[in-house]
Amino acid sequence: MILTTNIPVTHTFKSAISEIDFNNLEFGKHMSDHMFVARYADGEWCDPKIVPFADITIAPTALALHYGQSVFEGMKAFKMDDGNISIFRVASHHERLQKSLNRMSMPAIPFSFFDDGLKALVNLDHAWVPEGEGKSLYIRPLIFASEGRFGVKISEEYLFIIMAGPVGSFYPKPLNVKVEDTYTRAAQGGTGATKCAGNYGGSFYPTQLARQQGFDQVLWTDGSDELNIEESGTMNVLFVIDNCIVTPPLSDTILGGITRDSLLQLANDLKIEVHERKVSAFELVAASENGKLTEAFGAGTAAITAPIATITVKEKKIMLPAYSSDSICKQLERRLTAIRTGNANDVFKWNTVLLK
Ligand code: COI
Repeated sequence: MILTTNIPVTHTFKSAISEIDFNNLEFGKHMSDHMFVARYADGEWCDPKIVPFADITIAPTALALHYGQSVFEGMKAFKMDDGNISIFRVASHHERLQKSLNRMSMPAIPFSFFDDGLKALVNLDHAWVPEGEGKSLYIRPLIFASEGRFGVKISEEYLFIIMAGPVGSFYPKPLNVKVEDTYTRAAQGGTGATKCAGNYGGSFYPTQLARQQGFDQVLWTDGSDELNIEESGTMNVLFVIDNCIVTPPLSDTILGGITRDSLLQLANDLKIEVHERKVSAFELVAASENGKLTEAFGAGTAAITAPIATITVKEKKIMLPAYSSDSICKQLERRLTAIRTGNANDVFKWNTVLLK
């Protein structure tokens, strides 16, 4: 194993930072100046390096393109009030990445290899961590099968790239969502609990149909007649019913969101009751009719929390009450932001702090 503490760096000739309007950050559009790259060959991870962010060359036969061995993570780094930078829940993201790699028959990445690469990149591109409400440096670790041959097999070669880019708010306004009752995102025993590329590719078609019908996103279900809710678009989903948070329990069809987990821990801390249990779309209709459904929101790294304005279950449209700064989702997001920016004590030890 090659240690990554002295990762060789090739600096960019010309930073692109002056071309960025930090007040108008479209998600995923702008990349920072550098990227971390390592490769897997002959049974080990090797050649870690940081190079200018640029196109890469891969064979048209690269196995990831044909058979989908490709997994990623979504992480964030924040500018703290004292000028330091915090990277959020590195160990939890690494743990989830390992689960994804394992399920997709891809080689594990040692924690120190991951952690060193991440810190080296964020340190080098620290000027790209934006300041201000809702802004952060989104970090995208990506691993894919790079061996060039189209025989159906587990790849023996991989590329591990960490890239990053400044982002602002993911969803500008509360969402109108549709409970998807034709297509499903995941099946029992499948890959739904992993962050593999195919999960996202498979969701585009139903999401596009929903958009054509005027919705922003879909609410995925387990495909049963009960329409038990699973996720919302690319996020986990939480409801407030009778002043308690209700959210589907993790399973092999639901991605274990780090934001979901953080919000549930914060809710416990704030003495808000949490129920991780099945919740059917029809229960949501009934709870709305008797005034008990007061909030519904997505939770994910990119979006943090994404309040939902309406939920359409077959022909029935649930209208959620308006959100205010006292709404549970807003309270939780404020607390999360306070921890990440150093405004509140990091009691859960979530921050990896890089000193300025
Ligand atoms: C995230 O929330 O970080 C995700 O990975 C979901 C999406 C942006 C792909």
